[in-house]
Amino acid sequence: MAIPADIVNEIKYRNDIESVISSYVELKRRGKNLVGLCPFHNEKTPSFTVYPENGSFYCFGCGAGGDVFSFIKLIENLDYADAIRFLAEKSGINIIESATDNSLQKVRNTIYDINRETARFFHSVLMSDEGKWAREYLLSRGLTLKTINHFGLGAAPDKWDSLLNHLKSLGYSISDMVAANVVSKSNKGSYYDRFRKRVMFPIINVRGRVVAFSGRAMPGEDKSAKYINTSDTLVYKKSENLFGINFAKNCCEERIILVEGNMDVVSLHQAGFENTVAALGTAFTADEAKLLSRYTKEIVLTLDADAAGQKAVRRAGEILKDTGLNVRVIVVPDGKDPDEYIKKNGPERFKALLEGAVSEIEYKLLTAVEDIDVNTDDGKVKYLSRAADIIADTPDPIARDLYISRLSDKYGIQRSTLENRVKEIRRQKAKTKRRQEINKIINPRFEKSSVLPEKNAYPAAVAAEENIIAVLLSHPDFTDYAKDNITPDMFISSVNRRAFERMLELSLEGLDYDLSLFGEIFSGEEMGYITSLLNGNKSGDNSLTVLKDSIRVINDESLKRKSIDSAKKSTDDWAENIKKIIDNKNKGDK
Ligand code: CTP
Ligand code: MN
Repeated sequence: MAIPADIVNEIKYRNDIESVISSYVELKRRGKNLVGLCPFHNEKTPSFTVYPENGSFYCFGCGAGGDVFSFIKLIENLDYADAIRFLAEKSGINIIESATDNSLQKVRNTIYDINRETARFFHSVLMSDEGKWAREYLLSRGLTLKTINHFGLGAAPDKWDSLLNHLKSLGYSISDMVAANVVSKSNKGSYYDRFRKRVMFPIINVRGRVVAFSGRAMPGEDKSAKYINTSDTLVYKKSENLFGINFAKNCCEERIILVEGNMDVVSLHQAGFENTVAALGTAFTADEAKLLSRYTKEIVLTLDADAAGQKAVRRAGEILKDTGLNVRVIVVPDGKDPDEYIKKNGPERFKALLEGAVSEIEYKLLTAVEDIDVNTDDGKVKYLSRAADIIADTPDPIARDLYISRLSDKYGIQRSTLENRVKEIRRQKAKTKRRQEINKIINPRFEKSSVLPEKNAYPAAVAAEENIIAVLLSHPDFTDYAKDNITPDMFISSVNRRAFERMLELSLEGLDYDLSLFGEIFSGEEMGYITSLLNGNKSGDNSLTVLKDSIRVINDESLKRKSIDSAKKSTDDWAENIKKIIDNKNKGDK
């Protein structure tokens, strides 16, 4: 391990799990522990639990778990060592470590540096004569110089090696430029600027670092793509970032406006709507929804009014549904995008649209009518059955009641008819959901998951192993007893065997079984599993008895397996013998 254990301990001591997690998740006290909505999966009732007593967390919904480092690893998307460094930095602890182990972190830092220098370079080009074309274009689209500066917009020169030479003059290596994805390698093996003759939008993450670029071609120029974006790099994952989030995160308690294009973000921002973000050239993802739910209560979707835009609204609505965020939709009139609309009608009108943004259910009811002729009886029936589906999907009973009344009035049917239909759909859905939940209880996640593939074939042995690990985690002093009575090779499941081996190692070194000493060698999923054992250990005063019983089970099971194996072997041998006899007989016959 590159970071010495006592430093890791010190870092852990200064970053108590409760306050670290509180800065990401709203926690409520429940007895000794704290609970909240899990930041790692979408849920409405809290199953995410923090155990201050032993410095761990565990989500009963998705199985994520571990210590404070495992938490940072997951939420900040870092590897384990970087998660430790992240918290060290926060608490002002200086880590002195060997140079070899942090080479990846070094490349990351270099990419951040290259990105910052690249953004500066593009911006200075935009402000110079060389970038006049881009400056004039942006001004012609109504942006002010102030906005251009605020976003750090830039221009990539119409050359193959401008940026490359600039970065070289600053001392960066070509391979780092390629790692940052600002320079590409041609088939012939030469290197060239990835962005050429484009208006450049730097993408800045929530921590204020330039992580990527989006480059727009000039209109009318024969380019293969209107936008070129940075591909995923060591510091950037397209599906987890949003353009504008660096500004929006500071003024979005009420709501965040989600638009389609970079230009929409910049232009709405200039008009005073700083709480605007856009997905980066991909469809809106669940990771992005999660990012947003960290900052705001409500999302307003203002995607384009064309068919593609509407499909996108529906998809985003589905993804956002489980985040607990309130979702509303603006339909911008005349098929305009928000940028065009605001330029034509001014910010006040857009604000009115924003305030009148319909709820998602209203939007769905509005758009569900589109391909149906509701003037015919058939059409009415078809529409109302679709509408019943939409209403049934709405968790709020008041909203359901309201729309049932409205629609039955509007289409001249009896209220009870529609009401009963909605009730029936909800009953069916509840039934399916219950069945799924029961399934979950019968087949808990871990039995299906890759952590314990052995459990199905050897349930008794694996359950005993789980008990052993659970007891030892809270009673390291029993390790010697365990060591004298079982060996790692008697464990059926690999994760439990490795956990046992790790404990033997740590006990030899005289170390406690702190979770941070497991985090380095176990995967995130395995850490969740180990944490669940630690916190699920209910044996209390009976720990030693549980340990002894479990060891007995393992011994019995291992004997049983041996006798089955030898029986199988004798069967195999017998079959082999028969085969030989037959073979010999055949030979003799010839
Ligand atoms: N996009 C992309 N690649 C393309 C086209 C679009 O990555 N070939 C992404 C960009 O992030 C863009 C968004 O999809 O911002 C929406 O596209 P569009 O509406 O065409 O772009 P705008 O930013 O609105 O650009 P403009 O108003 O200048 O046409
Ligand atoms: Mn546009």
